[in-house]
Amino acid sequence: MTNDTSRAHIGVVGLAVMGSNIARNFARHGHVVAVYNRSPEKTRALLAEHGDEGEFRPAETIEEFVASLERPRRALIMVQAGPATDAVIGQLADAMEPGDIIIDGGNSLYTDTIRREREIRARGLHFVGAGISGGEEGALNGPAIMPGGTAEAYASLGPLLESVSAHVDGTPCCAHIGADGAGHFVKMVHNGIEYADMQVIGEAYQLLRDAAGLEPAEIAGIFREWNTGDLDSYLVEITAEVLAQTDAATGRPLVDVILDAAGQKGTGRWTAKAALDLGIPVTGIGEAVFARALSSALDQRAAARELPAGRLGEAPADRDAFVEQVRRALYASKIVAYSQGFDEINAGAAEYGWDIDRGALATIWRGGCIIRARFLDRIKDAYDRDPALPALLLDDYFRAQVADCLDAWREVVVTATRLGIPTPVFASTLAYYDGLRAERLPAALIQGQRDYFGAHTYRRVDREGSFHTLWGDDRSEVEA
Ligand code: ATR
Repeated sequence: MTNDTSRAHIGVVGLAVMGSNIARNFARHGHVVAVYNRSPEKTRALLAEHGDEGEFRPAETIEEFVASLERPRRALIMVQAGPATDAVIGQLADAMEPGDIIIDGGNSLYTDTIRREREIRARGLHFVGAGISGGEEGALNGPAIMPGGTAEAYASLGPLLESVSAHVDGTPCCAHIGADGAGHFVKMVHNGIEYADMQVIGEAYQLLRDAAGLEPAEIAGIFREWNTGDLDSYLVEITAEVLAQTDAATGRPLVDVILDAAGQKGTGRWTAKAALDLGIPVTGIGEAVFARALSSALDQRAAARELPAGRLGEAPADRDAFVEQVRRALYASKIVAYSQGFDEINAGAAEYGWDIDRGALATIWRGGCIIRARFLDRIKDAYDRDPALPALLLDDYFRAQVADCLDAWREVVVTATRLGIPTPVFASTLAYYDGLRAERLPAALIQGQRDYFGAHTYRRVDREGSFHTLWGDDRSEVEA
């Protein structure tokens, strides 16, 4: 770091809402911030509206922007993911010098980050793909930050990022994740986990509404209550706020006038796709992505509304008991969904050679981001107890928590099935749990079928080797 006080400590390229807010966050923390946007109006607007919040160095060309930075230069790109990011990286790299650091703070796909890091490193520059979570509010007041790239780049950049990140118990929600695309990979899985977390909350809501017959305002009260216990989290907190909201135009609960078609920007889908490629069953995240897709298939849903439901069961007799069962189902299902997400991170780390500290990751996610929750302290504790934990579910604490919820969880899935209420994540995470602990799976039969139609061979439980049955012949077994 130079002692040049007149130059900017860091620069931000792209001054839409996220970029402006993070630039303001740097400025408010006493850092001199260079700011540049392709169209200069945004730069001028930022200075006009917030120029008094700290020291900004506005630039109207990329060259002027680069020249205003102290060396090694640190430039944080906050533009649209995809071609725009590539364009800005190219412009910066042309204007920068060896040792300078380009940071992509957008939601880039980790494979793009791996490619970009390789290309930029070949030019003697550093490239850091940093996942930034927390939305507009987080960017301004303290996001969770997940930077990848080299340790050398982090040594220069880390203190700056840590200073503007959220803090929990004095610990910054920012730490070096691993080489090249590691930061964007874990940010992607974070978003996938967020999908699952939101969906289990949605399933709980629908059960309380349709099985227990409660009104949104009553359910808001239940979520507020849940937010004081194991489920204490930002998402549960805002769920209560949304459910308590009345629509000004109609006087109805807002949740009843919002079209029930969930949008997605794609990071949940990426998480599911990457999991398929890595062979990791993230059933909670996958079903959450599919549930959003199903909700958005409005024409199909309209055409299917008359499909028969079959004979439906009775609503639960003891409403209070059912509410508690739903809470337990939600908690257990959430634990499994997180366990699966951490499995994906483990698999990604193994595939790409990243040394990811999962306990540190849980620490980062405790603040700033959408999935922040008390629960993440428990995950951190689990990885502190055993950094090589084969699955979060196998940690003593979580094992006991799930065991405690299990009867309720089964009961809720049965009730939902009897009442025809879809609970894809509650049900699929339970099936996963039962699959994981099963003594025998029907995979033996599948291997038999594969051997029958394709001579794919099978292994035996009692001897080493691969075997094939001569299905079309005398059905004797041969060693393959
Ligand atoms: P938001 O969703 O918050 O609007 P975004 O769409 O992710 O943000 O990103 C918009 C930012 O990307 C803007 O700063 C935009 O610059 P302009 O204000 O000039 O449009 C920037 N951006 C998009 N494409 C770009 C490109 N090819 N080169 C440089 N900046 C670009």
